[in-house]
Amino acid sequence: MKAAVIGCGVMGRTLLDGLRRAGGWELAAATRSAETARAVTAELGLPVGTDNAAAVRGAELVVLCLKPKNLLAAAADLAPALAPDCCVVSIAAGVGLAELAGVLPAGQPLIRAMPNTPCRVGAGMTALAAGPRATAEQVAAGRRLFESVGRVAVLAEEHLDAVTGLSASGVAFLYLALEALVDGGVMAGLPRDKALELATQTMLGAARMVQETGRHPAALKDEVTTPAGCTISALLRLEDGRLRSVLARGVEEAARAAANLGRKISPPGSGSR
Ligand SMILES: NC(=O)c1ccc[n+]([C@@H]2O[C@H](COP(=O)([O-])OP(=O)(O)OC[C@H]3O[C@@H](n4cnc5c(N)ncnc54)[C@H](OP(=O)(O)O)[C@@H]3O)[C@@H](O)[C@H]2O)c1
Repeated sequence: MKAAVIGCGVMGRTLLDGLRRAGGWELAAATRSAETARAVTAELGLPVGTDNAAAVRGAELVVLCLKPKNLLAAAADLAPALAPDCCVVSIAAGVGLAELAGVLPAGQPLIRAMPNTPCRVGAGMTALAAGPRATAEQVAAGRRLFESVGRVAVLAEEHLDAVTGLSASGVAFLYLALEALVDGGVMAGLPRDKALELATQTMLGAARMVQETGRHPAALKDEVTTPAGCTISALLRLEDGRLRSVLARGVEEAARAAANLGRKISPPGSGSR
């Protein structure tokens, strides 16, 4: 199956790299500047051009990895080159399927997706929302594409801004937490490289415990606390610092900002961009 990636910034590269590592896809890619095209070609060993129309020709899936402000104009330019049964997948935060449909030929199948950067190492989390014209086979193909770089959840479109706040932006929240854990380890006397190794594996291990045991995080947390022990003593400190509500509000804030991104863009030719 041929998949074309349009836009080779952070996410375009991430997906291309993940798909290249996974194998099984005929890949084509294009981006705006010749400089980026050359850099990505050198980095990933995939031919990347600057002709979007050439890249999408013959593709069953076209993944638009473009900033919300560039998405609609680029999609409108591409429209004549799309086969009628080509499924267009947009990963832009905050831009709805209806807005994208407005610049593409009537009936073009569409999917909105929200992946995250761990797709690069096969550990991504992507949510997909199918447009009304996408067939079950096209949704299955979209699912296969993102499953080659991680997990996939299919959701209603109304949830995608929340997904952006939780799993797309959430990666950054966890990096911050990781950095803080490492600093704590250093403060407690560990060499920084060892603290990083310990903190990283601990974060991976905790996540896998929840995934593989299916148990609630609170139950797993309770298991680590002994009466009057060191963990419960530290947990109370974290509660004093409102760690849980700060993280939860962070997700809420990112979801709100994602929804606003879509409100700030206007269709090509409307003169208000
Ligand atoms: N970053 C994340 O963690 C993340 C996660 C999930 C979803 N997203 C969404 O993914 C989208 C892309 O984000 P990003 O972080 O990858 O942005 P980015 O690094 O700025 O990449 C966007 C790329 O689009 C290219 N571009 C702009 N106009 C173009 C056009 N007309 N034709 C072809 N290519 C064009 C630019 O290429 P040149 O360099 O060639 O000019 C740029 O490198 C955004 O909508 C974002 O909401 C991001």
